Amino acid sequence: MYYIINNRSAREIAKEAEVDVASLRDPQSDVDRVRNPQWLVVLGVCTHLGCVPIANAGDYGGYYCPCHGSHYDASGRIRKGPAPLNLEVPFYQFLDENTLIIG
Ligand code: FES
Repeated sequence: MYYIINNRSAREIAKEAEVDVASLRDPQSDVDRVRNPQWLVVLGVCTHLGCVPIANAGDYGGYYCPCHGSHYDASGRIRKGPAPLNLEVPFYQFLDENTLIIG
């Protein structure tokens, strides 16, 4: 399984917190997608047909799937293109500030 783990900047965190959730195709607030806002942890699998999105690309400063043009934001939420859902957040936990366990 391919995961995206992104150490987000304060600017990215603030930008994602300001998004109008009601405007989203798969409405989910950023705070509901992260355990620690600094760290985004999602599956690196496009929810359209399963390609691997490219980081730091696309129209929303997050992830871009080149297969059919899905754009995700820095919270992994679908913003444009054919993908129906946000990038999936797996079960994970931080054991301490330096250790992340996924699954
Ligand atoms: S598989 Fe990602 S847009 Fe189609």
